[in-house]
Amino acid sequence: MTTRDWWRVYKRVCVMFFLAVVTLTVVQRGSIGTGAPFQIERQARMEASSEGGEDRALQQKKGLYPVTNTFWKNSKTKQAEPAAAATGTTEEPSVIHEGAGSQTWDVSIANCSANLNFINQDWFRGLEANFKQFLLYRHCRFFPMLINHPEKCLGETYLLMVIKSIASQHDRREVIRKTWGKEQVVDGKNVKKVFLLGTASNEAEKANHQRLLEYEDYIYGDILQWDFQDSFFNLTLKETHFLKWFSTYCADVRYIFKGDDDVFVSVENIFEYLEASAHVKNLFVGDVLFKAKPIRKKENKYYIPQALYKKTYYPPYAGGGGFLMDAPLARRLYWASDSLELYPIDDVFLGMCLEVLQVTPIKHNAFKTFGLVKNKKSKLNQEPCFFKSMIVVHKLLPPDLIHMWNLVNSNLICSQKVEIL
Ligand SMILES: *[C@@H]1O[C@H](CO)[C@@H](O)[C@H](O)[C@H]1NC(C)=O
Ligand SMILES: *[C@@H]1O[C@H](CO)[C@@H](O)[C@H](O)[C@H]1NC(C)=O
Repeated sequence: MTTRDWWRVYKRVCVMFFLAVVTLTVVQRGSIGTGAPFQIERQARMEASSEGGEDRALQQKKGLYPVTNTFWKNSKTKQAEPAAAATGTTEEPSVIHEGAGSQTWDVSIANCSANLNFINQDWFRGLEANFKQFLLYRHCRFFPMLINHPEKCLGETYLLMVIKSIASQHDRREVIRKTWGKEQVVDGKNVKKVFLLGTASNEAEKANHQRLLEYEDYIYGDILQWDFQDSFFNLTLKETHFLKWFSTYCADVRYIFKGDDDVFVSVENIFEYLEASAHVKNLFVGDVLFKAKPIRKKENKYYIPQALYKKTYYPPYAGGGGFLMDAPLARRLYWASDSLELYPIDDVFLGMCLEVLQVTPIKHNAFKTFGLVKNKKSKLNQEPCFFKSMIVVHKLLPPDLIHMWNLVNSNLICSQKVEIL
C-alpha cells in the first residue's frame, strides 16, 4: 500500500467513527427526550410518597398499571382498570384490614332516584332550582367509591389532613402537596393527607378530568373519590362520606384537620396547639360562629329559604375552611350525622351534628376562615409574621400560597412572637 492508500483508509475510518458517534448521540437524546426522565421523576415521586411504609400499596398500584408508558395510548383496555381498582378495594387482601375490624366501604351501587312526593306542593314550586335539586335527592345518603385508599390510615397516624377539592383544581392540590399538605413524620408522629372529591358536574369535564385524576392518584395515592356530583349543596355529602370513610378505615388516627384547598395552614402551629390540648375531650376547634343567622337574602350564596330552616339562629359551627377535631369525636359525629336530615351548607350541618352530641366547638383566633380583614389591601394580607402565627388563613390561591409559604419558612425574624395558645 502507498501512503495515499493509507490516507484514504484513514479518512474512511474517521468518517465512519464520526457517523457512529452522531448516531449514538441522536439515539440517546431521543430516548431521554421521551420516556426516561418521566419515569425517573415518577419513581422519585413514588419513593417520596412511600416514606410512610406504604410499599405494599404501591406494589398493588404498580400491578394495576403495569406499563405506564402506554397509559395514555391504550385507552380501551385501560378503561376497565379504574373500575377494577374501585371494586377491588372493597375486597382487598385481608392484611389491609387487620386492626380495622375487616370493614370496607359497603356501598357499591348508586341507585337513588328523585323523591317526587312534594313536587306538586306550593312551597316546593316556589323554590330556586338548586334547592329543588337538593330536596329531590336529599334522601340519597351514600354513594359508591370510585377511588379509595383503605391503606391510608394503616399504622399509627397522629394527624390526618383532609382537604375538600374538585377534579379541575389540580393546581391547588399540587401546591398543597408541596407545602402544608406534605406527608411527613414530625417528632416521630405521622402526618398523612387525603383529598376528598366527587365527580365533575358536567359531562365534558367529567370525560376530560376523570382520567387525569386517576393518573394523579396513581402518582400520589392521596385521592378519595365518590360517585356523586361535586356541587356546592353536595358538600354536605362530602362531609358525611368522609365521616363514614374515616369510621370505617381509620382506627389508629389521633386528630383530623379538615379544610379547603385554598387556605394557608401552619402544621407547626397545629402541632403546638394539639400538644397543649392533649387532655381535652371532644376537641373541636376552629373559626366558630355563635348565634349566626340563616341568610334570607336571595342573592347571597348562602341564602336559605324558610321552608328549609325555620329557626332564627344556627347552632354554633366552625367555618369549613379549616378546623381541627379529635378522632373519637369524628366517629361520634358520623353516628350523629346519620340521625339528621342533610342540610345544604356543610359546616352548618356539622354544627347541627355537634349539637346532637351536645359538644360546643371552641373558637380560636388562629383560625381565620371567614376572611381576614375587610380591606383587601390591608398590609396584614401580605405580612408573613402574621401568617406565621396563625393555624389557618383563608384564602390563598396557588401562587400566593407558595410565595407566603416560602416567606414564612425562610429565616423570618418577627419582632415579637405572637402567642397562639
Ligand atoms: C334500585 O332501586 C329501585 C327502587 O328503589 C329498585 O326497585 C331496584 O331494584 C334497585 N336496583 C338495584 C340494581 O338495586
Ligand atoms: C348531588 O349528587 C347527586 C349524585 O350525583 C345528584 O343526583 C344530585 O343532583 C346532587 N345534588 C345537588 C344539589 O347538586
